[in-house]
Amino acid sequence: MKKNIAVFGTGCVGLVTAVGLADIGHNVTAVDTDLNRVKDLKKGYLPFYEPGLKKLMKSVLTAGKIRFTADSSRAVAENDVIFVAVGTPSRPDGRADLSQIRNAFDSIIENLDSGKTIVIKSTIPPGTVRSLQEQHSAELDAAGGQIVFCPEFLREGTAVHDFYHPDRLVIGSSSGEAARLVDDIFFPVAGKLDVPVLKCSPVSAEMIKYSSNVMLASRIAVVNELAEMSEAVGADIHEITAGVGLDKRIGGAFLQAGPGFGGSCFGKDVSGIVAAAEYHGVDLSLVREILTSNARQRQRPAVKLENAVGSLRGKRVAVLGLAFKAETDDVRGSAAFDVIEYLINKGAVVRAHDPEAEYNFIRAFMKKGYNCAGGVEEALRKADAVIILTEWELYKRLTPQPLIENMRGRIIIDTRNILNEKLFVNEGFTLFGTGRKEQKPKARSRNRSEFVNAAIVSM
Ligand code: UDX
Repeated sequence: MKKNIAVFGTGCVGLVTAVGLADIGHNVTAVDTDLNRVKDLKKGYLPFYEPGLKKLMKSVLTAGKIRFTADSSRAVAENDVIFVAVGTPSRPDGRADLSQIRNAFDSIIENLDSGKTIVIKSTIPPGTVRSLQEQHSAELDAAGGQIVFCPEFLREGTAVHDFYHPDRLVIGSSSGEAARLVDDIFFPVAGKLDVPVLKCSPVSAEMIKYSSNVMLASRIAVVNELAEMSEAVGADIHEITAGVGLDKRIGGAFLQAGPGFGGSCFGKDVSGIVAAAEYHGVDLSLVREILTSNARQRQRPAVKLENAVGSLRGKRVAVLGLAFKAETDDVRGSAAFDVIEYLINKGAVVRAHDPEAEYNFIRAFMKKGYNCAGGVEEALRKADAVIILTEWELYKRLTPQPLIENMRGRIIIDTRNILNEKLFVNEGFTLFGTGRKEQKPKARSRNRSEFVNAAIVSM
């Protein structure tokens, strides 16, 4: 059944949710306090790169299924269901900063009337819905309003696909009626695909969200440590994860070793649950260790290069990939920060490239000693070594030729294991992957006439 829905927040989660809800048949008003962003969105300009979103946005805008506004009061007054998808970044002490949630709630509660349902999509620490309910109980009771927590599981880069193909729908609500309403809203997606719907208490839903990201982050942290071990004993991490993943209890997905996890969620949510646990007197020592381990992994590509060349002083290094993963222009939490920082602190000169994220990276990292090249070949020019950090298709398709033509050195640190090792080793490159033995070009074996000549000379 078609609903009138307001969505607060037009970041990746908010915008993909708003556009997706409009596309599956609802009347959507997307709200953002940033007037310039609202102006751009009205014209169909996206504030970030997300595959598939531009096309979908154009179709719902043209069909008049979505509108954009900065007028939050009106958006609340004119809609029955209010989604909240604003940011909940980390505070310096690791706790989630809920100020954007509070601001959104202030304008929602002020304009609350007759039975509206508030659906929180933003990731929030356990107990947040309970405390919002207590704080606004008078207004919620008077208006018959409900708060539901319905966590998002969208991955940047595949967020549009994930909206239409969720693994599950989690609805945390203390009201059966409000839970049914949210279930109905997502029926065109979840219902049609027979996606499992889990209805539970808000606090369990809050824990489900944090726990999911803890499980995923720990998986990557563990696989990266195993990769390190694998390098030490001469094993191959791909063979290891293939073997381990065949155990159905473990499964093979999300086991790709790399330069440590990044992004705006894993680090934030692991810190968030550790801080929330401390508040409740619980010591999540193992979970906390995920962050320490990951921080070390993010230095490893630069340390590997340093070990290979002796000293980084004066070395020219091409860094390919600034986004925290492929198919996004998001650099939040990207390993590129740690790697480039390490390199320039040790006196190297860095030329970086990314097909989508250069602008965002330069804005976030204003330091001397590096610049962005605007092209792969430009980044490779006169480089002593190249470090690949992001698994962009463009880099997967790299052949030895542009490296031979542009670089002066022959060292490759392929943190995502995306290059065909043999191809590069045969052309004289030394390749360091993640979780694999270093691959060196074989010393050229001398042919028969060389042996004969050598024998004549030594006589
Ligand atoms: C994550 C969760 O997956 C998503 O459900 C949640 O809603 C938001 O946080 P996202 O941060 O967009 O999504 O990206 P994700 O694909 O999960 O990758 C996170 C990081 O882990 C990236 O740095 C990625 O490169 C890394 N990663 C992922 C690995 O190193 N190996 C893997 O096998 C998978």
